[in-house]
Amino acid sequence: MSEPAIRTRDLGFRWRRSTPVLQGCTLNVPQGEFWMLLGTNGSGKSTLLRLLAGILTPQTGELDVLPPLGFVFQNPDHQLVMPTVGSDVAFGLAAERLTFVQVRARVREALTAVGLLDLERRPIYALSGGQKQRVAIAGAIARHCQVLLLDEPTALLDPDAQLDLVAQVRELVRSRGLTALWVTHRLEELDYCDGAILLERGCVADRGDPHRLRQRLECQQAPL
Ligand SMILES: Nc1ncnc2c1ncn2[C@@H]1O[C@H](COP(=O)(O)OP(=O)(O)O)[C@@H](O)[C@H]1O
Ligand SMILES: [Mg+2]
Repeated sequence: MSEPAIRTRDLGFRWRRSTPVLQGCTLNVPQGEFWMLLGTNGSGKSTLLRLLAGILTPQTGELDVLPPLGFVFQNPDHQLVMPTVGSDVAFGLAAERLTFVQVRARVREALTAVGLLDLERRPIYALSGGQKQRVAIAGAIARHCQVLLLDEPTALLDPDAQLDLVAQVRELVRSRGLTALWVTHRLEELDYCDGAILLERGCVADRGDPHRLRQRLECQQAPL
């Protein structure tokens, strides 16, 4: 078995003067697999993703994530900054000191991977929500990210676009050997992943087979 791509041990985090959000949170996500993170509203899913991305620092515990990593937000309008599809994907490469030709090749490769090469010159405002999320994912692929962290990427999408996106990420994980951790409260998305983690009271309450977790959560009849 290879090393996990994402690993935390006894992670603890609290916002100032509040009760801990995460406490003794230990988990791992195997390399090359598509995992989902579940939990009720306020259970700390977004906080955990921000810790994994290095946007926040834990007060206790340890974490390791295979670099480089890419982050996909719930709302792509908070993420896409350039006027067109191609320029937005290229913008993410600005720090990498690549030649013009190398940037072009990376952008085209990434847009091909998400099926958007035909839209390279399209303005961002003219895209659907699902297409915008694909551009955000293409940005991570262009940077050759090993790990994708996605925080409720389908929350703003209609049902068809939602299932298209989750199927696309599953395909990218399989074809490119990526590792993805996807936050959701939509239980039907569990059918697409290799494993799932349930957060409760700041730590991992359950972990493993997504079909079993789906059944467990459906039996509780408490919508996440
Ligand atoms: N910027 C912040 N400042 C203070 N408290 C926060 C902040 N962001 C989130 N929280 C609190 O942390 C807890 C976990 O939030 P979050 O990680 O967003 O949960 P989830 O993504 O599972 O809904 C909640 O109680 C929330 O109110
Ligand atoms: Mg959240």
